[in-house]
Amino acid sequence: MQSLIDSFGRRIDYLRVSVTDRCNYRCFYCIPSEGAAMAARSDFLGYEELTRLISLFSGLGVSKIRFTGGEPLMRRDMAELARQVAALPGIRDLSLSTNAHLLEQHAPLLREAGVSRVNISLDTLDPDTFTEITRGGDLAVVLRGIDAALAAGMQPVKLNMVIMKGINEHEIESMLDFAVERGADLRFIETMPIGTAGRDGTASHYYPANKVLERVRKKCGEELVAVKGAKGAGPASYYQIGGGPVRIGVISAMSRHFCEGCNRVRLTAKGDLVLCLGQEDTVSLGAGLRQGWSDAELTRAIVAGIARKPERHEFGEKKDVVRFRNMSTIGG
Ligand code: GTP
Ligand code: 5AD
Ligand code: SF4
Repeated sequence: MQSLIDSFGRRIDYLRVSVTDRCNYRCFYCIPSEGAAMAARSDFLGYEELTRLISLFSGLGVSKIRFTGGEPLMRRDMAELARQVAALPGIRDLSLSTNAHLLEQHAPLLREAGVSRVNISLDTLDPDTFTEITRGGDLAVVLRGIDAALAAGMQPVKLNMVIMKGINEHEIESMLDFAVERGADLRFIETMPIGTAGRDGTASHYYPANKVLERVRKKCGEELVAVKGAKGAGPASYYQIGGGPVRIGVISAMSRHFCEGCNRVRLTAKGDLVLCLGQEDTVSLGAGLRQGWSDAELTRAIVAGIARKPERHEFGEKKDVVRFRNMSTIGG
């Protein structure tokens, strides 16, 4: 089988597919208060179009697919798309990143359709802070979504906490207790200056991963052990507490980037292939598909795009790179 190797020798086997740029929450670091510019719904690729593109990637050795958004569960009948993608030859790992607001009702169907694991945003356990950060979100509903994912047998369930100084950094310890109690993995994420966070100074709430780890160590003491080999090509470095099942991850996107091991590219709902989260360059696969490109032409465009994949992000170095892009369009 052909595989996708970029010009730095990195093998790309992971595609993150943003199925919509709409979201039912408006996290202040992601979406501006007046709302983000959104694509016309008619520009969104339909499920058959998306499945066709994903099948071309799987023919090129991509075996891991993650659905993202906006909020992916805002797209009607996501389980149907999951079913189509799970049935493609070569797809070995199907996952979802969600805010969990709609997860309670969808988790069993998604699991049955082949979504085996889920990553859930959870920045705080305080109901008022939650409503403030998400501008209207309901913590109780999200907690029920998390429980539903665990009950449906999603494994692992990873909780994503974007750490922000002065906003939720005092909850590191209580979040650890919560994750251990639920049996969910927990990742602490450094705020990246993308989207609103890159424009409005939210990134000034930046709290470095090494400080997070110091506090995790203080709480867990000798019991905290680095998990060797668990990093893989993902963004997180993992730790375990006393040999227990729960993994604690740190995503140091800013202080210690992981670009040299990058294994991923992204597709927007319109079918733009985003070569790097922190760089502007894209390939208009969706437009090509709608102009009638053949599978061979689309495949050539994918291969040529991967050859141009940038070496790394330049957050904090090139200000203009962080301004142009909305996280809700590319799904993190
Ligand atoms: P798995 O490792 O497959 O479970 O997923 P993930 O952690 O990559 O996905 P998730 O959607 O949960 O993202 C967690 C955080 O990592 C988010 O803040 C993402 O923006 C960030 N992230 C994911 N991929 C990349 C990447 O390629 N580069 C950078 N800088 N950050 C990334
Ligand atoms: N920096 C870091 N992580 C972010 N996310 C959204 N915006 C940012 C940012 N500026 C996270 C969300 C979600 C994941 C997909 O990306 O909280 O958990
Ligand atoms: Fe890959 Fe770009 Fe993310 Fe670095 S910033 S890990 S190169 S997608």
